[in-house]
Amino acid sequence: MAFKLPDLPYAKDALAPHMSAETLEFHHGKHHKAYVDKLNQLITGTEFEGLSLEDVIVKTHGVKKHQAIFNNAGQHWNHAQFWAAMKPKGGGKIPESLEKRIVADLGSVEDFKRSFTENGVGQFGSGWVWLVEADGRLQVTKTANAENPLAEGQRMILVCDVWEHAYYIDYRNERPKFLKTFLEHLVDWEAAAARLEAKVPDLKAKKGQSRSAA
Ligand code: FE2
Repeated sequence: MAFKLPDLPYAKDALAPHMSAETLEFHHGKHHKAYVDKLNQLITGTEFEGLSLEDVIVKTHGVKKHQAIFNNAGQHWNHAQFWAAMKPKGGGKIPESLEKRIVADLGSVEDFKRSFTENGVGQFGSGWVWLVEADGRLQVTKTANAENPLAEGQRMILVCDVWEHAYYIDYRNERPKFLKTFLEHLVDWEAAAARLEAKVPDLKAKKGQSRSAA
């Protein structure tokens, strides 16, 4: 059974005007789909066929001859996390449990937002900006291309895609404006808080289970 493109958790026009239906049409329907299709093509007949997505990512990470498989598996996983990190009428107040951890580990909510935006803007070329839990602390990180916290053994709490295809239709070259809008109007803080509280299972714990879910 091959990997499948997950449905978006909302209608294509539900994030407008902050993220247009046209962006989701291309970003989910074409870019994300292409990663899934390419991944399926690359793993057919290999040792990776039949493994969970998480296992494919961990086993191919840093292995030069499997770089293409890692790139497409990573991008499949990263995009699935990104869709789940947003919701219609997002933004607003951060749940207390998450806010307390942000303040304890990162200084303040404003410090966190500034760091998240600076890391996203500062990612040269294509990549991702993340809020992760690593070594028991929340940290803001950025990764290039298809790299992700899963491959590094970190827990993903929140992510924003800063590949140009994520924002060019709506924001042209204005990545800072896209990141500001993401934090103010798109982010699903409740989902991030639930991930932190492990109300949503740790994705790494899903190894060996449903391989098409993520
Ligand atoms: Fe993307």
